[in-house]
Amino acid sequence: MATLPILTAPDPRLKKKSAPVDSVDAEVRQLMDDMLETMYAAPGIGLAAPQVGVLKRVVVLDIEREDVKTGPLFMANPEIVEASDEDLSYEEGCLSVPEHYGEVVRPAKVTVRYLDRDGKQQDMACEGLLATCVQHEIDHLDGVLFIDHISALKRNMILRKLLKARKEKERDEAEGKPAKDKEPAPA
Ligand code: NI
Repeated sequence: MATLPILTAPDPRLKKKSAPVDSVDAEVRQLMDDMLETMYAAPGIGLAAPQVGVLKRVVVLDIEREDVKTGPLFMANPEIVEASDEDLSYEEGCLSVPEHYGEVVRPAKVTVRYLDRDGKQQDMACEGLLATCVQHEIDHLDGVLFIDHISALKRNMILRKLLKARKEKERDEAEGKPAKDKEPAPA
């Protein structure tokens, strides 16, 4: 397994729509394993393939809370087949939008259909953080970030700060300064 570099916004690759996989073959399984290692190392609770520059509909998740312990979940071609009318507002973060958070309203309960790591079709009922996270990751496969769900004012402010941070980091690297410690961000 290997950790992969995570793209951060604004990056045109994060805005692209990813293609479904034909099947879960050895190459897709390798991608899933590398993505899981990358997600744990970040650390995060969800990661979508376009975040590591691979435009395939592949997602990994691992949510550990008092009420939900999923263990690692691998999903190819995930789609929401059922969503509740009831909504949930959650303060989301994203490994591709480091150190920024925003309240996003989504259906509180969803059923996701996907191919697991063995290529077997699964339907999983999700609620709470898991429902939020699954929808957040599927958004990535359609080129949508959580900041696309918040006000344009806040989104543009975050993007400006990310660009500024990136420029500072590039300048520090060019001058040979050590990297700053980064705070953990979820998905
Ligand atoms: Ni994300």
